[in-house]
Amino acid sequence: MKTFDTIDELRAWVGGEKRRGLSVAFVPTMGALHGGHRACIEKAAELGDVVVVSIFVNPTQFGPGEDLDKYPATLDKDLELCRNLGVAAVFVPETREMYTTNQNVWVEVEGLTSPLCGRSRPGHFRGVATVVAKLFNIVAPDTAVFGQKDAQQAVVINEMVTRLNLPVRVALAPTIREPDGLALSSRNGYLGDADRQRAASIYQALLAGRDAISRGDRTAKTIIEAVQTRLATGGIDDVEYVELVTADTLEPIDRVEGRVLLGVAVRIGTTRLIDNVVLTVAADGGVTEAMLF
Ligand code: PAF
Repeated sequence: MKTFDTIDELRAWVGGEKRRGLSVAFVPTMGALHGGHRACIEKAAELGDVVVVSIFVNPTQFGPGEDLDKYPATLDKDLELCRNLGVAAVFVPETREMYTTNQNVWVEVEGLTSPLCGRSRPGHFRGVATVVAKLFNIVAPDTAVFGQKDAQQAVVINEMVTRLNLPVRVALAPTIREPDGLALSSRNGYLGDADRQRAASIYQALLAGRDAISRGDRTAKTIIEAVQTRLATGGIDDVEYVELVTADTLEPIDRVEGRVLLGVAVRIGTTRLIDNVVLTVAADGGVTEAMLF
């Protein structure tokens, strides 16, 4: 497995692979890799001949007071996981390699970044879209894989690729969960024991919402209340949002039909966690979990 920390070296290597006729599948990450990243890397291995992973904690997607300075760094373990999964190359740039000058050019995806996490994290998706556009230009992948756990991010990136005509296919890997349902996240490591137990209620609350829909409830307000009630009984009282939106355009809905995204963001202690389920409501009323795209 190759590791690169400069853009020029990585580009030269990717160019060589492409001249050999190989397709490149790319998994951008901020490191602290876990089973969710593993699923992305495995998906990438299915979709491309060579897999490239980037590990870069992107400062421009963190707001003031967020966890940029304490974001977990486990580089040796990350490289070992990549090696074990057959990753061909890992790109680990320093910040000065990615942002050589004051960044005065940004990628802004309008509309899709307003609901859900966009409300409380102004500038977050601008930072994500900008760094991913830069990484796509550097790695020049045929395919890039993102996790459905960060559903809004995936929709934003997909829109960016479509609207900017980037020659990259965006693919998704499913959310991977602990046995009690907690979605794997690099931020779970911030939780102490008691908070970790409470965090299991996030997915249980999403399931309470899904159950309400399965029982025939179609009114967003009461479904959202079912989720909020389950969060409260699980001891989670700092709820940033519970929202029901269309799965493709992320527009808030009053009534559930077709494919919808039920998303949650909460704070447990000082840790902000997000999760979601994408649900398809069939004509016969049956409800199934689905992929975003
Ligand atoms: O999902 C992440 O880890 C980050 O937002 C990403 C896509 C690597 C951009 O920094």
